[in-house]
Amino acid sequence: MSLRPPGGRVEVLITREEIDRRIGELAAEISSDYRGQSPLLVGILKGSTLFLADLVRRLDVPHEVDFISISSYGNEQRSSGVVRLLKDLDCDITGRDVLLVEDIVDTGLTLHYIRQNLGTRRPRSLRVVALLDKQERREVDVQVEYVGFVIPDRFVVGYGLDYAEQYRELPHVAVMGPDEEAAAGGREA
Ligand code: IMP
Repeated sequence: MSLRPPGGRVEVLITREEIDRRIGELAAEISSDYRGQSPLLVGILKGSTLFLADLVRRLDVPHEVDFISISSYGNEQRSSGVVRLLKDLDCDITGRDVLLVEDIVDTGLTLHYIRQNLGTRRPRSLRVVALLDKQERREVDVQVEYVGFVIPDRFVVGYGLDYAEQYRELPHVAVMGPDEEAAAGGREA
């Protein structure tokens, strides 16, 4: 299946139905692991917003939500690991059970920074749920406790993930066509 949103061609990698099913499984696992606790879910802006919104509606433990925003110096398709905090958490996480919600783990540099930063604030526990994991591109060893889908080394968009702020609204996860991917930054497909 392919479609032509403004600006380029993308192909569906993970359908809306597959995402729904997997989020149900993740929510069940997370609810069971956090039974009797009241975790704080921390969405990493902006890519995690759709995932977070769907995940929290399937959880059956009480929880709170907060957001953190970071900027990563690098080109549009690759983070450099040099990270700046744009928006910090609104709340104190000392003694809290924190679950970081990430859209995609690629090199792992962004998550490594956030885990270290939040870890210094002495949460009671700190875990990560990531919808997508590009394991083969990992540059630093970073722990991801819950993973939705392991995906190949392709640039993906949709379901919250963007290319140049476009495509976040797609209901599925899609790969950009090889032409668009090359035009977007010269990454090998
Ligand atoms: P990392 O620091 O290399 O692990 O990159 C993590 C961040 O890079 C993610 O939170 C995304 O914002 C972005 N990113 C990495 N791969 C992709 C992709 O395939 N599509 C869209 N954004 C991506």
